[in-house]
Amino acid sequence: MEILIVAAIPVLFLLAGISILLIMQIAGFLQFQQYYRRQRYSRAVVGSYIGQIEAADALLWERAQELESLAQRLSASNDELTNLGNMKSKFFSMVVHDMRNPLAAILGFASMLKDKAEKPDSREMATRVHSSARFMQAVIADLTDIAVVEAGKMSVQPVLQDLRPLLADLAGRYGVLARQKGIQFLCAPAPVPLRVRMDAARFGRVLANLLDNALKFTPARGTIELSARAENRSAVIRVKDSGAGIHPAERRKIFQKYYQSQYIDEQTRKKGWGLGLSIAFEIARLHKATMGVESAGLGKGSTFWVKMPLAAPAGEEFLV
Ligand SMILES: Nc1ncnc2c1ncn2[C@@H]1O[C@H](COP(=O)(O)OP(=O)(O)OP(=O)(O)O)[C@@H](O)[C@H]1O
Ligand SMILES: [Mg+2]
Repeated sequence: MEILIVAAIPVLFLLAGISILLIMQIAGFLQFQQYYRRQRYSRAVVGSYIGQIEAADALLWERAQELESLAQRLSASNDELTNLGNMKSKFFSMVVHDMRNPLAAILGFASMLKDKAEKPDSREMATRVHSSARFMQAVIADLTDIAVVEAGKMSVQPVLQDLRPLLADLAGRYGVLARQKGIQFLCAPAPVPLRVRMDAARFGRVLANLLDNALKFTPARGTIELSARAENRSAVIRVKDSGAGIHPAERRKIFQKYYQSQYIDEQTRKKGWGLGLSIAFEIARLHKATMGVESAGLGKGSTFWVKMPLAAPAGEEFLV
């Protein structure tokens, strides 16, 4: 019995060893299987990513092609637009050029007829022809200016000078027109020289536009006041009227090209094209001047102002 037990011990050890070996082999095999499965899964995932990247790449290429063709079409449209713009400008300058001379002749003859007509109704007709031709002349001048501004070719030749002679000249001309319309015209001359760098002909158009508007939008028995004074380092010119006034919502809009207030009557609207203020704004900008308007509201008059840098402190000698 003892011999049997002694003989069985190594056998038992052997069996235990073989079992351990077997278990290790099986565990290894199972681990390998798991690793193999994981590897296959990873390969599939990477494969699907590569597929997605390839699809995105193809889409990108397609979009790039589309973009390129769009860019080509855009450039063709741009060329066409430039051509049309050039044609418009050419046509416009031809029309303006061909209208100027006959218009000057109509104005001249209408003026002569006005003076020579003996019958009141002939004089009345000549006056109407004259004022219509004047209106056309003003519109042509404005359209020409707008075309020049649009082409970026508006320029000024500023010269150092006192603002007051220009204001006195305008006050003289518009004073007469205001009185004809039954409007009181006031002009307080600045007590000291206001030296600025300006192109008097062009800057005169800015102020003339403001005065034209004041005359147009102020009824008889109203008041227009032209004033200028030094404020800090600027000359501030104001055209104040007791007329139609400006709605708060339109204070900026009226400086846009072709904009006319929606609160003015049809009759008054037809007297202009909504160009004056936009031209004035551009000329003021070229003089480094700013423009704006204050108004208490519709029917309460308005004050348009232009603020331009003084070239020397007010009242001092010219610094040439
Ligand atoms: N003094 C003013 N009082 C009330 N409204 C004004 C005055 N000045 C300008 N406006 C408003 O601003 C608008 C634009 O003025 P702008 O001078 O640009 O054009 P317009 O006078 O109508 O025409 P144009 O100047 O081309 O003859 C006018 O139509 C008017 O509605
Ligand atoms: Mg105007």
